[in-house]
Amino acid sequence: MNLLGIAGSLRKDSLNKKLLACAAAMAREMGREMRIADLSDVPLYNGDVEAAGLPPGVAAFREELKWADAIVIATPEYNNSFPGVLKNAIDWGSSRGNCWDGKVLALMGATPGNFGTVMAQAQLRNIFNILNAFIVPFPFVYVPRAHEAFNADGSLNNAMAAENMKNLLGRLFQVTEALKQRP
Ligand SMILES: Cc1cc2nc3c(=O)[nH]c(=O)nc-3n(C[C@H](O)[C@H](O)[C@H](O)COP(=O)(O)O)c2cc1C
Repeated sequence: MNLLGIAGSLRKDSLNKKLLACAAAMAREMGREMRIADLSDVPLYNGDVEAAGLPPGVAAFREELKWADAIVIATPEYNNSFPGVLKNAIDWGSSRGNCWDGKVLALMGATPGNFGTVMAQAQLRNIFNILNAFIVPFPFVYVPRAHEAFNADGSLNNAMAAENMKNLLGRLFQVTEALKQRP
């Protein structure tokens, strides 16, 4: 199974990059390696640019999406939604050939605020319906107060979030394997 991780933040010290690294470490303990996508070279979507030829960062990102069977997305929350960086990447991945089609997705998110990216994740679920991606419905991985949620080794000190992450990854792998075995 090919497992890809995407963080919806470009920030070097992003809490969501930390969350994704934590998920990658947990996946490794469960016997799966996660490749991390890089959105830093994905420019703003422009149909004229696309028509002239895909920018290298976009072409590379689309190849990673095509390669993946299962995708983990760690999203920040901006103004009760998910950030433009992530929407932009989703749009590039869907235009002129939907690379999200049939992928199995697990969502998670971290914020210094108190509500753990509830709104951002709800909106992502809505968007992936039109892209025909399968989102693991439950459990939710919300990490509120994320600036104080990580131990020095990168693991989560939020026991509920850690437990939910483990269960979510387990379901992600289970559903992905089941779909892959279908004729
Ligand atoms: C424009 C903007 C809007 C934000 N809106 C929210 C919000 O609605 N809810 C929330 O919990 N945090 C909000 N935040 C705080 C982010 O959750 C915080 O900056 C977080 O660290 C971003 O994720 P990152 O650490 O992965 O870059 C907002 C931040 C910015 C810059």
